[in-house]
Amino acid sequence: MINKICCIGAGYVGGPSMAVFAYYCPDLQIKVVDINQERIEAWNSENLNNLPVYEPGLDEIITQTRNRNLFFSTSIKESIAEADMIFLSVNTPIKLKGLGAGKASDLKYIEASTRMVAENARNHTIVVEKSTLPVRTAETIKMILSASIENNNGDNNKTFSVLSNPEFLAEGTAINDLKNPDRVLIGGENDDAIEALASIYCKWIPKEKILKTNLWSSELSKLVANAFLAQRISSINSISALCEVSGADINEVSKAIGTDTRIGDKFLNAGPGFGGSCFKKDILNLVYLSSYFGLNEVSEYWNQVVLINNWQQKRISNLIIKKLFGTVSGKKICILGFSFKANTNDTRESPAISISKNLLEEGAKLLIFDPKVSGKQIINDLITKDQAYSDLSLDKSIEVCSSIEEASKNVDAIIVTTAWDQFKIINWGEISKLMRKPSWVFDLRNCLDFKEENTEGLKIWKLGVSNL
Ligand code: NAD
Ligand code: UGA
Repeated sequence: MINKICCIGAGYVGGPSMAVFAYYCPDLQIKVVDINQERIEAWNSENLNNLPVYEPGLDEIITQTRNRNLFFSTSIKESIAEADMIFLSVNTPIKLKGLGAGKASDLKYIEASTRMVAENARNHTIVVEKSTLPVRTAETIKMILSASIENNNGDNNKTFSVLSNPEFLAEGTAINDLKNPDRVLIGGENDDAIEALASIYCKWIPKEKILKTNLWSSELSKLVANAFLAQRISSINSISALCEVSGADINEVSKAIGTDTRIGDKFLNAGPGFGGSCFKKDILNLVYLSSYFGLNEVSEYWNQVVLINNWQQKRISNLIIKKLFGTVSGKKICILGFSFKANTNDTRESPAISISKNLLEEGAKLLIFDPKVSGKQIINDLITKDQAYSDLSLDKSIEVCSSIEEASKNVDAIIVTTAWDQFKIINWGEISKLMRKPSWVFDLRNCLDFKEENTEGLKIWKLGVSNL
């Protein structure tokens, strides 16, 4: 019987997923712990606008659960010691150096948190992989945990079961995804442990949606699901380029193919390339694993999905420069939307970053507006340690604005990189009056509503729509 849960990692997955657990299971006591004190303070903040994660509906759930049966804390050891079940929800970024650099997952955070569990757990503890991990990581976790049983410091009752329970939520719709998932996947070797976790999910999810597999199928399925989703986006983006030169319209093509029930209509929106913290890293991980197992053709096949994504972002930057008479040097350009998709404040791998960097390198001055991303985050993302620019006055080339109007003043072009709802209802007649002539709008999401009477004097470029 599970009474106390500890989740290590209070990020985009740990915070929202445990909030939903707490909401549906008032009898469970849940502690979400993290080494990042600032993040924990933000989760405990009185002002719900200061929560570290922006997700529609999250504030309501936090209001109902926080300090009732959901607690955010930095007391990691104590929370582990009292827990019956521990979720590992730490970050698993791409390794930056050493063996597998640029492709393999960096498992140092998983290893560190597993070691903390090994040292501090008491009695029988179910350890659940929530993070996305390379297939067979559970083997390493089991090894670290078993070693601690051998050196048990007198606690003869210490035992562990390891489960894989990958998370499939998408940012921006996380709360709905957690409340009504397409499926829950639980991989494991011990039936009692699998049932213990399944019985928690059963509080709000129909039994038939809970899939039980072996550990390795569960770990691998998560990587494969992300790879298939990203593959669809690279496929439709490659076709967007073909539409632009052939007279076809990507919206019409998406609809035409999506009505085939075998293909389905979701995930067929062409755009400036996929962003987010996971697609690229998870495919590169699959690429690495395949070549590690000697499956070079498989590895190259999946690598192409990432190459097309990089190409799409570069292609768009070049096209914008070409349209602006071949140079953006000294020109003011407005970027609308900086998060990697609408309804999140997350900017990790956002296409807005790479497009902005390309334009900055060409000498443009950027005026950037996003409804949820902080100015500090935007500057941090554009001025990085490994930046290619030698221009130390780069920060003067970036102005973070607090409204669409402020970001449109005297600009030669507006580039819409994220499909926030408020961009879909812009009065283009009013905004174009603020811009320098000729004024360009680049709609990279095909999300803008241009009414004929409002577009006089505006030059409009829509992704995937023929410019013949
Ligand atoms: P995140 O960076 O937002 O959060 C991870 C947290 O773990 C950080 O706050 C970090 O300080 C903490 N942490 C790292 N090491 C720790 C340790 N030893 N002890 C305590 N805390 C520690 O990451 P995220 O976006 O929540 O992703 C977490 C995992 O879930 C990743 O493997 C990711 O691939 C996967 N995932 C993410 C999403 C998503 O939408 N972001 C969706 C599904 C799966
Ligand atoms: C994605 C998956 O959808 C989740 O199931 C998974 O849990 C998660 O990754 C993860 O493992 O982190 P997320 O990255 O949050 O979720 O958001 P998505 O909605 O998948 O969008 C990813 C990127 O693809 C965004 O940049 C989005 O704009 C882009 N996209 C999506 C398109 O360009 N076109 C589409 O049709 C759909």
